[in-house]
Amino acid sequence: MSLKFGVLILFCSTTYVQSLDNGLALTPPMGWMHWQRFRCLTDCVAYPDECISEKLFRTMADHLVCDGYLEAGYEYIIIDDCWASKQRDNDSRLQPDPERFPNGIKALADYIHDKGLKFGIYGDYGTKTCAGYPGSIDHLELDAQTFAEWGVDYLKLDGCYADQSTMEEGYAKMGHYLNSTGRPIVYSCSWPAYQEPLGIKSNYTKLAETCNLWRNWDDIDDAWSNVTNILNWFSKNQDRLAKFSGPGHWNDPDMLIIGNFGLSYEQSKAQMAIWAIMAAPLIMSVDLRSIEPQFKNILLNKDIISINQDPLGIQGRLVLTKNKIDIWTKPVTPNVDGSDSYAIGFLSNRVDGYPYRLNFTLSELNLTHDSGYAIRDLFDLSAEPTVTNIDEIVFIRIKPSGGTLLLAVPNPLNNVSKI
Ligand SMILES: *[C@@H]1O[C@H](CO)[C@@H](O)[C@H](O)[C@H]1NC(C)=O
Ligand SMILES: *[C@@H]1O[C@H](CO)[C@@H](O)[C@H](O)[C@H]1NC(C)=O
Ligand SMILES: *[C@@H]1O[C@H](CO)[C@@H](O)[C@H](O)[C@H]1NC(C)=O
Ligand SMILES: *[C@@H]1O[C@H](CO)[C@@H](O)[C@H](O)[C@H]1NC(C)=O
Repeated sequence: MSLKFGVLILFCSTTYVQSLDNGLALTPPMGWMHWQRFRCLTDCVAYPDECISEKLFRTMADHLVCDGYLEAGYEYIIIDDCWASKQRDNDSRLQPDPERFPNGIKALADYIHDKGLKFGIYGDYGTKTCAGYPGSIDHLELDAQTFAEWGVDYLKLDGCYADQSTMEEGYAKMGHYLNSTGRPIVYSCSWPAYQEPLGIKSNYTKLAETCNLWRNWDDIDDAWSNVTNILNWFSKNQDRLAKFSGPGHWNDPDMLIIGNFGLSYEQSKAQMAIWAIMAAPLIMSVDLRSIEPQFKNILLNKDIISINQDPLGIQGRLVLTKNKIDIWTKPVTPNVDGSDSYAIGFLSNRVDGYPYRLNFTLSELNLTHDSGYAIRDLFDLSAEPTVTNIDEIVFIRIKPSGGTLLLAVPNPLNNVSKI
C-alpha cells in the first residue's frame, strides 16, 4: 500500500523529494533560540539575567507560554552554543557548565516539557564548537544517546572545526545514531553553510534525505543589510534550492531578528513577510521580557504565520523587481476552482523617504486565474479585500526599506460580476 503510494507520487510530481522519514517538521519549525540576541554571554556574575544559563531558558519558556507565542505556534526553545562544560565527564559524555546549569540539562528539559514546549540543543560535528566547547566528531553515537536521554526534541548540529569534505557522510552518520535512539528529534544540519560560501554547491538531495532543515548560508547579525544580503543569496540560488523545501525538509535562512536593535518596524514587517513566503523556519531570537508590543504583534500575526505554515509547504520565489521593490510569491491554500491562492510579499530597497506607490498587475506576477482574485493586506486586516482581474492595475504604498504581505485568493468563477 505505502509502496504504491510512493510510486504514484514519483510519477505525478516532478518535484517529489526523497526525504528523512522521522515524521517531524511537516511545516517549518517555529521556536526561540538564544544565539542572535544573547550570543556567548557566560559571565553570570556581571550579567545574571542575560547569561547563558538554565535561568535564562526557564524565563524564556515562561514567556513563550504566557505571552501567546506557544499558542501562535512557537513550540521549540533551543539552546545554542556555549552551554557545555569545556570538559567531557569521566565517561566522555557531554555535560553542561555546572555553575550555569546546576540542575543539569535533563531537569531543564523536564521543566520545558511540563510547559507544553519542546526542547532543542546545540552540538558541533567537528572537534570543537564554534565558541570552543567540546565537539562531537569522536563521540557521535554517545552524544546522540546523551541528547535522547536528556529529552532533546531538536538538535542543531553546527560545523565549525571540521573538514567540509567529510560532512555529508558524517552528518548522515549522526542522523543514523539519532534515529537509533528511538526518540523523534528534529535534525538541523549546517553543512551547506560551510560549503556554499566556498563556492561548493551542496548536495540538496542528500540534505533532504538526512536532515529536517539546514542552514544554507552565513549567520544573520542584527542589521537590515544582513536581511537583504541573505535574501539576495537565496533569490540568486532559488531555482537550485526551492524544490528541496517541503514537508519534513526545509532551507533555513537563519533566525528572525525582529524586536532587537537593528531593524526598524517596517524592516521587521519585511523580514516576517519574506521569511513567511520562503517557508523558512521561524526561529525568534529576542529578549521576550522587553520586546516592544509592535514587534511582538508582527511575530504573533496569525495570518502571516499561516502563510509560513501552509500545508503545501512550497518555498516562494522572487518573481519581479520593479522600481527597486522586490516582489515574491508563494502558492498557498485554499485552491479555488483549480487555482492556488498566492501570498505576495514586498520588500522595498528604496530609500526616498515617502511611502512609494507601486503599480502592478497580477498577471505580471504570473497569477492566471480567469475570474481574478480577492486581495487582502495581512498587516492591515481592517481594509476590505480588493477584488481585481489579473490585468487590472492595482497599487500598493510601501515605506522605504520596508515591506508587507498580501494574500490573493482566486475569485470563484461564478462570481465574475463582482469585478
Ligand atoms: C574523574 O577522574 C579524575 C581523574 O582520574 C578524578 O580525579 C575525578 O574525581 C573523577 N571525577 C568523577 C566525577 O568521578
Ligand atoms: C527511523 O527511521 C525509520 C526509517 O526511515 C523511520 O520509519 C522511523 O520513524 C525513524 N525513527 C525515528 C525515531 O526517527
Ligand atoms: C547526491 O546525493 C544523492 C543521494 O545520496 C546521490 O544519489 C547522488 O549521487 C549525490 N550527487 C552527487 C553529485 O554526488
Ligand atoms: C552581516 O553584517 C555584518 C556586518 O556588516 C557582516 O560582517 C556579515 O558578513 C553579514 N552577514 C550576512 C549574512 O550578511
